Amino acid sequence: MQTFQTLLAKKLSDALAKVGLPDAGEVTPATDPRFGDYQTNAALVLGKQRGENPRALAEKIVARLDVADLCEPPAVAGAGFINFTLRPDAIAKKTSEILRDKRLGVAEAELNQRIVVDFGSPNVAKPMHVGHIRSIVLGDALARIAQFLGHEVIRDNHIGDWGTQFGMVIYGWKNLLDRQSLRRDPLAEIVRIYKETNDRATRDPQVREACRQELVKLQAGDKENIDIWNECVAFSMQDFEQIYEGLDVRYDLQCGESFYNDRLAGVVERLLKSGVAEISEDAVVVFFRDNPELADKPCIIRKRDGGFNYATTDLATVDYRINDLKADAIWYVVGAPQTLHFKQIFEIARREGYRSDFRHITFGSILGEDRKLMKTRSGENVPLRDLLEEACKRARKIIDEKNPDLSEADKIDIAQKIGIGAIKYFDLSQYRMTDYIFSWERMLSLHGNTAPYLQNAYVRIRSIFRKAGESASKIDTLILSDFAEINLAKRLCQFAEIVPQVLNDFRPNILANYLFELANSFHTFYEACPVLKSEEPVRSSRLALCDLSGRVLQHGLDLLGIKVPEKM
Ligand code: ARG
Repeated sequence: MQTFQTLLAKKLSDALAKVGLPDAGEVTPATDPRFGDYQTNAALVLGKQRGENPRALAEKIVARLDVADLCEPPAVAGAGFINFTLRPDAIAKKTSEILRDKRLGVAEAELNQRIVVDFGSPNVAKPMHVGHIRSIVLGDALARIAQFLGHEVIRDNHIGDWGTQFGMVIYGWKNLLDRQSLRRDPLAEIVRIYKETNDRATRDPQVREACRQELVKLQAGDKENIDIWNECVAFSMQDFEQIYEGLDVRYDLQCGESFYNDRLAGVVERLLKSGVAEISEDAVVVFFRDNPELADKPCIIRKRDGGFNYATTDLATVDYRINDLKADAIWYVVGAPQTLHFKQIFEIARREGYRSDFRHITFGSILGEDRKLMKTRSGENVPLRDLLEEACKRARKIIDEKNPDLSEADKIDIAQKIGIGAIKYFDLSQYRMTDYIFSWERMLSLHGNTAPYLQNAYVRIRSIFRKAGESASKIDTLILSDFAEINLAKRLCQFAEIVPQVLNDFRPNILANYLFELANSFHTFYEACPVLKSEEPVRSSRLALCDLSGRVLQHGLDLLGIKVPEKM
């Protein structure tokens, strides 16, 4: 389905052709509602290109613009902007079309791509902490949106299940393990022995050497060490799975770094053979001498002792994703500290001739009230599990106050939706690059730009239908006369323009903020326009607006990975 924006762009292009001008400029939403709903800078762009008066050009274009079915007569404003104001009947017609559309007016992307989204990707033998939330929540939302837009998405959890930390874990397992604690809380015990070993190794060179030996044995395929490693990975995965379930996040692939082990030697050989890598001081290294940004940042892909590293694994992963999975694009949703790593990986892949759209999607940090990286009182990372539990506990309090008569089962379910929704929305509603201060009060507030506010708007709509005793209304064309009605309908039409925009620069906050504005428009409408008490056919028309508002809210939140309750 076409949006107003695409319809107007097409009409603009036709008008330009009629006056013998090339396509130029854009149709964008008006910056100020006083200027109408959309505007174009086409005349300004052309005026500059051709050294002509933009206002005169605008007048010429307007004379040939055939938009009477959509807008009031377009107006030329300022230095040469053309402004469009939608007509209520056109808005009613489009809103009615969207009402009947399962996709709520959102068209599929023209170019359907296969996209691997690498997100979450925690390390084994370490509990997930608050720092992981952004990658998980952002990656999941982008995956959902890309999928809805018709792309084929492969969600890949690139788990850090192989690395030098296993030397210490295995040493700790053999020397420090308390079986009883392991049974009680496996991951906590693994973390304890890892930390304890780490402490000892820093103090005692003998322990350090013993850990190194364990690692060498593991890498050589020693049966006992492989068994221990397997057990640790399984315990960690169980822990991760519980968190993913709580967050309603799922993966298509969880290969992990270890999956690429037997490909690493081949990667290095290939890069040496093609001359992309060279031997330098007994290590294998890729230099980027002709790249000013990376000239003094060579990338080691095989260490002096023959060991491979994180970069080698990622190069093998690129190959797998492109040649085996046939990915057109790979999105890495990983924090900014790994910027250099991914620049190097993408550059090496390019040199090897891999044609894929590589994106490193970074994000800012989550800070505590003291504006420093969020930590527990004792200075530790805040475990993600505790954070999610706390969110549900706090949400439960709100429900107990707001609606004490709900059943226990309902309360548990709603608290989960509100608590998890609040954390996700708080994150996604901000520009991903900004650091933010974690605040329970703000994210759980029923007022303002929060998940509970949006969920509450949805719940209000559902209660209208419960009162009405009917589900969605059957009406062919909406009747829009009140200003608040027209305004709400216009917002509903914008959903189809907003969703694809999110992927331009990977900004779910555009969608979040749209939903907030939609909820506001709904409340204004609901205060200004009686629904159940009005006469037919206005009653049906207004019920239809309520229905569509609810559907857009629900679908929009779902694209952000947030669920809506029916009551709260
Ligand atoms: N496990 C890594 C970490 O915790 C993140 C992995 C990101 N993905 C990748 N392909 N390197 O830092």
